[in-house]
Amino acid sequence: MYESLVPVTHHFYPLQRHTDPESAPFSDFLRVLDNPKPQATDNLLYLHIPYCEKRCTFCPFHVRVKRDVSVYERYVVALLREIEMLGRLPYVQGMTFRAVYFGGGSPSLLTVEQIGRLYDALRRNFAIEADAEWTFEGEPAGLCNPELLELLASQGTKRLSYGIQTFDEPLRMTMNIAATVQDALTANERAKKLGFEDINVDMMYYMPGQTLAAVERDLQELGNCGFDSVDYYYMSYYAMPKSTFLGMEKGTYPRRPPAEMRPQMGRLVQRRMKELGYHHVTDHVYAKNPQGSEYYRLLWGGGFGEHRAETLAVGASARGYLNGYSYANTLAPDPYVEQIEEGKLPVNKVSALLEDPRNRGMVFFPKFFRTALDRIPDDARTRVFLDNLVEQGYAIIGDGELRLTDKGKEWIPNITVDLFEDPQREIHDSWVEELESHYSNRVTL
Ligand SMILES: C[S@@+](CC[C@H](N)C(=O)[O-])C[C@H]1O[C@@H](n2cnc3c(N)ncnc32)[C@H](O)[C@@H]1O
Ligand code: SF4
Repeated sequence: MYESLVPVTHHFYPLQRHTDPESAPFSDFLRVLDNPKPQATDNLLYLHIPYCEKRCTFCPFHVRVKRDVSVYERYVVALLREIEMLGRLPYVQGMTFRAVYFGGGSPSLLTVEQIGRLYDALRRNFAIEADAEWTFEGEPAGLCNPELLELLASQGTKRLSYGIQTFDEPLRMTMNIAATVQDALTANERAKKLGFEDINVDMMYYMPGQTLAAVERDLQELGNCGFDSVDYYYMSYYAMPKSTFLGMEKGTYPRRPPAEMRPQMGRLVQRRMKELGYHHVTDHVYAKNPQGSEYYRLLWGGGFGEHRAETLAVGASARGYLNGYSYANTLAPDPYVEQIEEGKLPVNKVSALLEDPRNRGMVFFPKFFRTALDRIPDDARTRVFLDNLVEQGYAIIGDGELRLTDKGKEWIPNITVDLFEDPQREIHDSWVEELESHYSNRVTL
């Protein structure tokens, strides 16, 4: 049924497209915020820091390199104002948070004092559960700072997350990664001593010039470190600059491995991570604790076909989901700060409502590999598609659940998109078309 992988991985659904605050659905969304929250849900609070020490060559995220504390300060002051504005909204006053995530970018670039002010403001303005899962994402060099680690530990942060990507030092330099492997090891050692419950790292395979043997070497190094959890992604190439592709053609830059290597490397990663004692908890996440993190569960609707969990977004380019709408804040930090300084909420794009809200649970269930059968909406389209998945060996039914098979797990982005409601599918198709025309001279996605 499937021959090539969909080039976009969706973390937010429904898709955000509407930009006019004066007309529906954007205006309806704004009205929702001004009214009490109609029903209790499990919630995540996500705060975004869009700055990095250097820009990694492969990175598709909206980050800026600005090594300037005064730039960070202006941004932090804007965040503090946004936190207060959000905390006054009747809808948000009805929310309690099970998890808080400082993401980026590299939040560890801020000063310890700035980070302390943000933690205090979050606690003052939002109802955060006493045993909430707090995660702080950073860049390994910044996370070596003992003062920062001590502040995070004293604030009840359970999880730390940082990117290693590969242990191959020359490849790291080629990819313009700021930290060294030694930074990553030092951060781990210091954090372990302070008792963080979950030290999570990001890794990638299918990187330029990588062979199966190179991925195997990374896996061996990873095994020696004993991290609590690992987000292991295959590298996507669409954000790479044109000059890099020209270099690949000329042979002055390591080449992207042949397409057929990607699934082979994926299988190797899966097998070896299991041998190292990790559970494959979601699409790209391996963890020693079979529960995985609250962060991903809440971000993707509540997990295993559940659709109601909500995310409140804070900061430039942060994205959230409230009362059936997903939404995105203004992308770039400067206009974001200006909006806040004018006293405006920085919401920039809003989705429409789904025809059936349970469709969100269906779209995200593949990331968790299974859903209870009684969560599956009984519309003909969903049923026929899922029956087809079972018939073709991508999924099986048993013990009241629908579960992806190993073959199904290799096609999660495709199954996800095929479960989209039709209007959402149209938006997805137009995005892929745009992406392909934009990058057509660089790479076959
Ligand atoms: C938003 S970044 C934040 C992490 C942190 N800034 C760092 O790199 O240390 C999260 C992760 O996305 C992954 N990532 C970045 N670019 C990618 C790409 N082109 N393809 C696949 N994964 C990518 C990396 O593993 C990265 O650590
Ligand atoms: S450090 Fe992380 S967010 Fe920053 S450029 Fe690199 S991958 Fe992107």
